[in-house]
Amino acid sequence: MKKVFIKTYGCQMNERDSEAVAAMLRERGYGLAQSEGDADVILLNTCSVRDQAEQKALGKMGFLAQLKREKPGLKLGFMGCMAQRLGQELLDKLPDVDLIVGTQKAHRIADHLEHLAGNGHEPVVDVAAEPGSEATIRDHVAPGAQPTAFVSVMQGCDMRCAFCIVPATRGPERSRSIEDVLAEVRALAASGVKEVTLLGQIVTSYGRDDIAIRDGKSPFVQLLEAVNAVPGIERIRFTSPHPQGFRDDLIGCYGRLEKLCEQVHLPVQSGSNRVLKAMKRPYSVEKYKRIVEKLRARVPEIAVTTDIIVGFPGETEEDFQQTVALVREVACDGVFLFKYSNRTGTPAAAMDGQIPQAGIERRHAELLAVMDGVAAERSARLVGRTMQILVEGEPDTKVVEGRLFGRTRCNRIVFFPGNDRHRGQLLDVRVTRAKDYTLYGDPAILNL
Ligand code: 5AD
Repeated sequence: MKKVFIKTYGCQMNERDSEAVAAMLRERGYGLAQSEGDADVILLNTCSVRDQAEQKALGKMGFLAQLKREKPGLKLGFMGCMAQRLGQELLDKLPDVDLIVGTQKAHRIADHLEHLAGNGHEPVVDVAAEPGSEATIRDHVAPGAQPTAFVSVMQGCDMRCAFCIVPATRGPERSRSIEDVLAEVRALAASGVKEVTLLGQIVTSYGRDDIAIRDGKSPFVQLLEAVNAVPGIERIRFTSPHPQGFRDDLIGCYGRLEKLCEQVHLPVQSGSNRVLKAMKRPYSVEKYKRIVEKLRARVPEIAVTTDIIVGFPGETEEDFQQTVALVREVACDGVFLFKYSNRTGTPAAAMDGQIPQAGIERRHAELLAVMDGVAAERSARLVGRTMQILVEGEPDTKVVEGRLFGRTRCNRIVFFPGNDRHRGQLLDVRVTRAKDYTLYGDPAILNL
């Protein structure tokens, strides 16, 4: 049996696409390799958001090309955003690569590999747009394998944030129908999945071209309501929304839809209105804060995480300090902090005031320290509480023997002493200790 190994860079959408490709290849008779050395096919699912992410994947492929010299039958492929962005150019750089598949063509990988089987075939580059591709891959989780699953509800983004390459790599917004998403969620529930995370580059735009607003509810809110009604699903999350589309109908879902978890990842990007404007992010810092306030008014315990870019062209020290202040003021539970990376073809690439790398590094380190402090305080508040977790399994790196981990509804990881029978269970644990972002707990019953 031929074996495939998929290495994933970047966002959850990529993780989900990798799962989908793995499931499809399994269906077509492939096994899943445990390591690169053990594989007949190696696919790198790539990210283009920052140059560093691309460099990592390129470096990795350079290494794999050497491996191929010792193992000539080995097939190497790129998929994901860098494959889409660079296409044929990747082959010029790395002639040992056999397959380059764009973001709308992941479902063709098995066919392409079949075509490539054996030696002597020309490499395949397939990066065309494909209408309907957002709904091409549904089955991606082996039954009973995991209690959580990603469900892609829309693809692409029509916003034009000045820094962002995603509209070029993922294409225009396309949404699946509510019925189509529901069918997938029901199938996942039937196979034992208890928690779904609805994915899209901009989920708040879900369905806006195809589905009418009903009773003041956006298509995305209608989707959330429909998923909330699926028996067997216990928890719903989504990522990522845009502040512009985060309106009162969506805010009103918190505390109303019982399965919607007390957690929101809402990218703000900067705490300076001047920078937001230059970024072409059509909202103000005040509006962002109002959304968070309204959410907390409904659900005081809600965890708020965000994305921030430091070192956007023209960002002054004062702009940066406003971002620092925002992180403190909002008391973010976590910040995904990005060093601005110049992406060819984006409007920001040609802007004046590009910040030297050393300046970006300094701001990054400063904000990182602030954010760690804020997040640690947020974690410490949870010590002594009893919280529900969904047990996912063993951590990748063995922290302590006999520890499993699960996530709270507010999306914190909790390690606890457990065993196999806890896997996939919703369990109450008492939080005994917090360290940085991680919590440690004991099953509540043991504390009675
Ligand atoms: N440089 C740095 N970070 C970026 N992001 C997107 N484009 C860039 C870029 N050019 C970040 C944003 C986005 C997250 C997924 O990646 O913060 O929300």
